Amino acid sequence: MPVADRTVGSPRVTARREFGEWFTDHMVLLTWTPETGWENRPRVLPFGDLRFSPAMAGLHYGQVVFEGLKTHRRRGGGLGTFRPDAHARRFQRSARRLAMPEMPEELFLAAVDAFVGRDGEALPADDGRLSLYLRPVLFASEPSLALRPARAYTFLLMGFVTGGFFSDHPDPVSVLISREYARAAPGGTGQAKCAGNYAGAFLAQRAATEAGCQQVVWLDPVERQWVEEMGGMNLFFVRGTGPGAAVVTPPLTGTLLPGVTRDSLKTLAARRGYLVTEERISVGQWREECEAGVITETFACGTAAVVTPVGQVRDGEDDWLIGGGKKGPVTMELREALTDVQQGLAPDTWEWVR
Ligand code: COI
Repeated sequence: MPVADRTVGSPRVTARREFGEWFTDHMVLLTWTPETGWENRPRVLPFGDLRFSPAMAGLHYGQVVFEGLKTHRRRGGGLGTFRPDAHARRFQRSARRLAMPEMPEELFLAAVDAFVGRDGEALPADDGRLSLYLRPVLFASEPSLALRPARAYTFLLMGFVTGGFFSDHPDPVSVLISREYARAAPGGTGQAKCAGNYAGAFLAQRAATEAGCQQVVWLDPVERQWVEEMGGMNLFFVRGTGPGAAVVTPPLTGTLLPGVTRDSLKTLAARRGYLVTEERISVGQWREECEAGVITETFACGTAAVVTPVGQVRDGEDDWLIGGGKKGPVTMELREALTDVQQGLAPDTWEWVR
């Protein structure tokens, strides 16, 4: 699609388009070479197509890592970006895993600030459900098919206004457990936010859609019984009800993505007095505990997904409901706790305000 078509229209109209299909007017660009290292100041350019060699290494060998973070309008005024420092550090870890140069945290933060300073106003002032989704990406841009880490890299940061990944409203989603495919392997790239992890997931996601489910659930790659994560989101389980409920998430085994939202929700749940644990939960346990009323809620979380209830699980011919298929109170309480921080209703050091 020509760039002009993508940039036409107000954010209000385009926010209803599919996630990530409309972009604001600018992007940030930075390059790295072994001789010069990183450019020291982010360049802000009009959003538009770029020219690269057909032999660009990232295209052939997949040296591509990215991040997803969000900026919100705060109720008291100003724009707040959620935990950009944590995203900068994960971006470094992802780059390290793919033998790419690590971007200094201050440079990542400067790129975010330059972008939000230029395009933050694309965020409508009167709709707190909307946010500006920022997409930093780093890729090998050296024109070489040599099979080694590339010697030139390009960083871009672009953004778009979004209501949410699923919709503006957190309705429970249905999920299919993938028995055929694995997302990651021990020693692999599962904990890096690299493009290939997402490409490898699309076929399983398609199978989920064909089975009438909205998302795929990944199992551990070795024993094929432990629930790990959802397509692009982490998972939480709630055991029990009321103030004594426990909030459980699978441990970071090396094959899961260490989500910034996952980490934030663990803190928010503990602050609210919930018992927060990391525990492996098998598919059998998930089903049995749901049927026995022990697991009362399950939710997915991520920058894009925020906090989204999971209402129904399908595993081959079996399927079961969680909490009667309705959104649960702990899920909604934690969602609100998170969005309150993001919208400036509950001050927190996680927000970088400008
Ligand atoms: C995010 O939540 O930011 C993600 O990366 C998920 C997906 C949109 C790629």
